Amino acid sequence: MSLDLAYRSFVLSVAGRKGVERLIKTRARGLVRRYVAGETLEEALKAAEALEEKGVHAILDLLGEMVRSEGEARAFQGQILDLVRSLAQRPWPKYVSLKPSQLGLDLSEGLARELLREILKEAEPRGVFVRLDMEDSPRVEATLRLYKGLREEGFSQVGLVLQSYLFRTEKDLWDLLPYRPNLRLVKGAYREPKEVAFQDKRLIDAEFLHLGKLALKEGLYVAFATHDPRLIAEVKRYTKAMGVPREGFEFQFLYGVRPEAQRRLAQEGYRVRAYVPYGKDWYPYLTRRIAERPENLFLVLRSLLGG
Ligand code: FDA
Repeated sequence: MSLDLAYRSFVLSVAGRKGVERLIKTRARGLVRRYVAGETLEEALKAAEALEEKGVHAILDLLGEMVRSEGEARAFQGQILDLVRSLAQRPWPKYVSLKPSQLGLDLSEGLARELLREILKEAEPRGVFVRLDMEDSPRVEATLRLYKGLREEGFSQVGLVLQSYLFRTEKDLWDLLPYRPNLRLVKGAYREPKEVAFQDKRLIDAEFLHLGKLALKEGLYVAFATHDPRLIAEVKRYTKAMGVPREGFEFQFLYGVRPEAQRRLAQEGYRVRAYVPYGKDWYPYLTRRIAERPENLFLVLRSLLGG
């Protein structure tokens, strides 16, 4: 396992302990402000406006995942419906991301599908696009089924995410081709065992480019969601060399990560979106950001030491 993946694995396993959670929740306010737009929809919309002024479009994401009761899933759905309705009244952004486990996927696939269907019924006629985030590997199969089922029901303003660290992803991509999916391609943010995922960053990066090029060759719309300057440069080079039009792909970033690069790409004429998370349930999201970047752990440790 490469060092960065060993670090990620360590952070994600420790972050699950209650004591650590309590400490981070009280002492990591600075990091929360960097990565999370706020606790309310109003704060998220304000952040979206600021991005738009820089030519970067927002993807609104109500934080929340792995709910344990139907009531919780329905409550999240209610808030996502409010979000969709409020986006419908604005010229932009018209884009939300959500996690299937936020809508009860772990309780019942039928429940998640029903709640998603209701969201799409509101979103599609209002021109709001809905992206299903991809969670950890035990949830991949069900998420793919959800996506395919919704497409078979006739919904079109829905997309999904593929993760280049999973061995299975190329086969999933081939299986998805008949659905002409709007894809977001990521490296993958979870702790995955060596039986299912590459453990070497170089292989994950190579697979990211391989899958992205394959999807573009097949004529799919691809959102390249990475902050990695080397991969972004290669996507720019490849799309130019192959004559892929700028409308055929986009770059996506996370709120608070490399904002200058986001703005620069937008100025160069690329379509750029930033994922704007908001809500009270920010802890799991924040731990994945800490796990991606050792500097963030140092910031947390420094604040624990009162620095
Ligand atoms: P990598 O981690 O190799 O980082 C490359 C460089 O980017 C770093 O050297 C650093 O400069 C910068 N960087 C990366 N992370 C940073 C951070 N947290 N803070 C500051 N700088 C950072 N994953 C998933 O499993 N399912 C999903 O649905 C999604 N959805 C998603 C949407 C969007 C819009 C993005 C950008 C990412 C995701 N991800 C995701 C997360 C993704 O899988 C991955 O964990 C992160 O993007 C980090 O990987 P990079 O590709 O940026 O490369």
